[in-house]
Amino acid sequence: MPSIQERQVVRPHGFAYLSKRHDGRKSGAKLVLYGEGVPLTNLAGKYGTPLYAYSSAMIRERFQTFDQAFADVPHTICYSVKANSNLSILRMLAKLGCGFDVVSGGELERVLKADRKASRKVVFSGVGKTRPEMISALKGGILLFNVESEAELSALSACAARVRKKAPIAFRVNPDVAANTHPYISTGLHKHKFGVPIREARALYSKAAGDKNLSVRGVSVHIGSQITDVSPFGEAISRVADFISQLRNDGHQIDYIDAGGGLGIPYEGPQAESFADRVGSYANAIIKPIRGLGLHLLLEPGRSIIGPAGVLLTTLLYRKRNESKQFLVVDAAMNDLVRPALYGAHHEILPVVKPEMISMETADVVGPICESGDFLARDRQLPVLPEGSLLAVLDTGAYGYVLSSNYNTRPRPAEILVTGKSVKVIRRREKVSDLMRAEL
Ligand code: LLP
Repeated sequence: MPSIQERQVVRPHGFAYLSKRHDGRKSGAKLVLYGEGVPLTNLAGKYGTPLYAYSSAMIRERFQTFDQAFADVPHTICYSVKANSNLSILRMLAKLGCGFDVVSGGELERVLKADRKASRKVVFSGVGKTRPEMISALKGGILLFNVESEAELSALSACAARVRKKAPIAFRVNPDVAANTHPYISTGLHKHKFGVPIREARALYSKAAGDKNLSVRGVSVHIGSQITDVSPFGEAISRVADFISQLRNDGHQIDYIDAGGGLGIPYEGPQAESFADRVGSYANAIIKPIRGLGLHLLLEPGRSIIGPAGVLLTTLLYRKRNESKQFLVVDAAMNDLVRPALYGAHHEILPVVKPEMISMETADVVGPICESGDFLARDRQLPVLPEGSLLAVLDTGAYGYVLSSNYNTRPRPAEILVTGKSVKVIRRREKVSDLMRAEL
């Protein structure tokens, strides 16, 4: 039985330092990072590190906050599966009434495995859909294909004819709006491979309308990811709203506007604004240009729903100094979390057990992989910690596990979903034998 003191510190959601008593005595209480009602030390002790842990209350709460921000207009949230595609998480979101944005046949299979009935809330995006992928999506009866080129339109029409279904389509238009984010994840400019330029899209809509295998339903747009200033969203949607009026004048029936995803999260520093406030400003920017147009709004958030709801736990293996440079070698590496190596991304790192005497040092937190690009943090101010300490890399719920690899033949971590005091392994840790299974 947990002591009364332990029960009092249980929080309904999220990750926070709480005091943990092992023996019920007043002295010696330690501040330990909890995931909901579970000390992360317990998770690491039981399941090992590196380990991904998610808070289900946080996922649920963020989904609901997002949903409520758009309560004023008819809308469907299509969670972007690429951010975190674990089946248990998809199942949980489906139960909350969420739809899904998929970009591959594999993601569609995951969604359908999580919830057979989810297909009517699925949008299919991506510049390189293959014919077999289109056919499974047509058979599954998805809500909308976001078509990105004329060539793709022809392929989709042929697939629809083959399976005797009408393909519901929107074109993903490229609004030529700049978003202030990392160049690898900015998508709304003409120099990017995504979407069709608005001025060419009008002719494509006429072509689609004349094709009996296709049914024109909407217009979609997605300008990039990790965008924290909401004004580019408003600008892109304004351009799309003007375009929709033009299409309607041309006689097209446009019911849906798909605003894509992209709302950023604060990875660094104090978080002055609440999620509800941030998502509220985002909703205002998007809703304003389309108010009164009688459109059904589709949204494809990924990171903003799941990013802050996950942590990556890792153990400090060795302290190491090269001349003046201090390294903390941990057991998680770029194969487990590639964002720092790939985008120079910042993730806060916290000791799971707060040290009592805090002296600070500046160190690089690095993994065991044989590349100098293998780091989780560079020149980071951290409390001086002994070898064996447990660290939590924050905000790794999105684009963490999904981007992991087996580089250096490293089995990927387990994933744990915490709900209050209950703990569920939602993916077991890989074994080296799993890695060799497909090899002949
Ligand atoms: N819709 C489309 C068409 C997308 O391409 C994306 C993300 C989303 C929705 C979801 O965006 P979100 O709400 O999560 O920002 N690996 C990168 C992010 C890549 C985003 C790709 N597309 C990272 O770790 O930052």
